[in-house]
Amino acid sequence: MKHILNKNDVEINIKKALKILKNGDLVIFPTETVYGLGGNATNGNAIKKIYRIKNRPINNPLICHFKNIENIEKNFFLNDIAYKLAKKFWPGPLTLVLEKKDSSTISTKLSNQQKFVGCRIPNHPIALKLLSGIPFPIAAPSANISTKLSSTKINHLSKKLKDNIFVLDGGKSFYGLESTVINASNNNPKILRLGSITLEDIKKIIPNIVLKNYKTFSNLSPGQQIIHYSPNLPIRINVNSVLKGEGLLNFGTNNLKSEIIELNLSPTENLEEAGNNFYDYLHILDNSQCNGIAVAPVPNHNLGKTINDRLIRASTINSN
Ligand code: TXA
Ligand code: MG
Repeated sequence: MKHILNKNDVEINIKKALKILKNGDLVIFPTETVYGLGGNATNGNAIKKIYRIKNRPINNPLICHFKNIENIEKNFFLNDIAYKLAKKFWPGPLTLVLEKKDSSTISTKLSNQQKFVGCRIPNHPIALKLLSGIPFPIAAPSANISTKLSSTKINHLSKKLKDNIFVLDGGKSFYGLESTVINASNNNPKILRLGSITLEDIKKIIPNIVLKNYKTFSNLSPGQQIIHYSPNLPIRINVNSVLKGEGLLNFGTNNLKSEIIELNLSPTENLEEAGNNFYDYLHILDNSQCNGIAVAPVPNHNLGKTINDRLIRASTINSN
């Protein structure tokens, strides 16, 4: 992971962030997937602040970030499936929904009183440093206003967040797509949200894993409403032509052209590169002179499946 940062600045800012977290306030911090908006996961007031500033519905649970598996084991039950996935993908962009123990100190507000909580160990030096400096886990959704685009650079952050919350800059996120969320609390594991780990890679570890169709997500995972991850401009996906006034989010080589603005997720059809550029380019297009965003077809395999999942949700808001 490349982070071009002045070491002294980072140390000072981490110290500041730790102080803020210990006080029950919030910080925006980098992870390897997207930026997080974090607070003390054992402090109900800190969690309330996260929901309030994001305008997030209370029934959309937050992910709890830990520094190591021992701390997760103290609070949650892990079965064989959970251990297999944890061993392969932690630290990293995997969120496991696990059953909380009665003895857990995690606030019930984090998961709307439910005992099933999304947990992950991020793989980012700044996030891990933060987690090592405090005796509690960090509750953190993506650092964006609810239903809007996630942030993979600090210039993506909305004014409301930037003006009110201390920000730790870690450069551009390594993956650029959120974590993959899996319910591993029973013997029928399900992928609740595709993310930076692909279905193909998870199947190598858990061959019988089921991917829930996004249309049924809302029943399983309260936060997985179809409308999500959206730019402000209308967005059309899988286009075969670009309309007048539209900007183009392209992929690979084709004859698509925009008169206004054109960005290519990956001219060489590399899906990792496309994932890394995805939110960055949507933010740029959203702030450009175009009146809508046309998106070229993206192949529906590996990370392309995650990108298409986000594109479907981003385009759904505009047809409602
Ligand atoms: O990569 C990521 O996951 C980033 C970084 C900051 O860790 N976080 C993130 O959080 O994307 P958020 O809150 O924007 O998305 C988490 C999604 C929610 O939409 C929710 O549906 C699902 O994960 N989720 C969290 N806890 C859950 C639970 N207990 N049961 C079912 N789904 C859950
Ligand atoms: Mg989010």
